[in-house]
Amino acid sequence: MPRAAVFACSHRRGGNSDRAAELLAEGVRRAGGEADVYYVRNHEVIPCLACGYCDVADRQGIERCVLGPKDQAWDLFTPCLTARTILFASPIYFYHLPSRLKVWIDRGQQFWRARLDKEPWIADLPRRTAHAVLVAGQPSGEKLFEGARLTLKYFVQNFNMDLAAPLTFRGLDTRDDLHVESDAGRRIAELGERAWISALEEA
Ligand SMILES: Cc1cc2nc3c(=O)[nH]c(=O)nc-3n(C[C@H](O)[C@H](O)[C@H](O)COP(=O)(O)O)c2cc1C
Repeated sequence: MPRAAVFACSHRRGGNSDRAAELLAEGVRRAGGEADVYYVRNHEVIPCLACGYCDVADRQGIERCVLGPKDQAWDLFTPCLTARTILFASPIYFYHLPSRLKVWIDRGQQFWRARLDKEPWIADLPRRTAHAVLVAGQPSGEKLFEGARLTLKYFVQNFNMDLAAPLTFRGLDTRDDLHVESDAGRRIAELGERAWISALEEA
């Protein structure tokens, strides 16, 4: 049975993004789906070497990147290929995504290359929608979420996904600022529910 994959992207354990990820998963389950939460910080991912190895078209899957079998990037990529929907819960660091998440995203270059070459193993993935909850400490900043949104948008395109407009929260800074029993908590769980229901409709 296809599942939802939720990526918890903070370097901080037990903080706002972890709680948002758990709420998203709870929402999916409430809507009748199954969800796995992946804590990106728990996966060792080597940065892209920009070596050009993935430019060679006859390599597929984990073979496509020279680093493929050497780290845990594929533990996170596999759900992007197989899940019915993927959801990110991430803090903003310096107006962007946290570095560990970005290191993994850069390893997505192998999929970008395979799509450019219209290779069926990647180009023929089912059309799906991805979602994101972004949390930031500061209360203002017109473009606070824009860098993160654009990077996630182009990352998920690799997997034939569109990124829905992210749900964003400002002024959440200390570890416990996002309360499960709050309007924010309710909206995040509802996003999980809606994401699963629309993923079933898309399938
Ligand atoms: C390295 C670092 C950089 C940050 N940069 C920003 C920033 O540019 N803008 C902002 O509003 N908050 C920034 N914050 C605050 C976090 O977004 C905020 O504390 C958030 O709630 C952390 O989420 P977490 O509890 O999931 O770790 C930064 C925090 C850290 C640790």
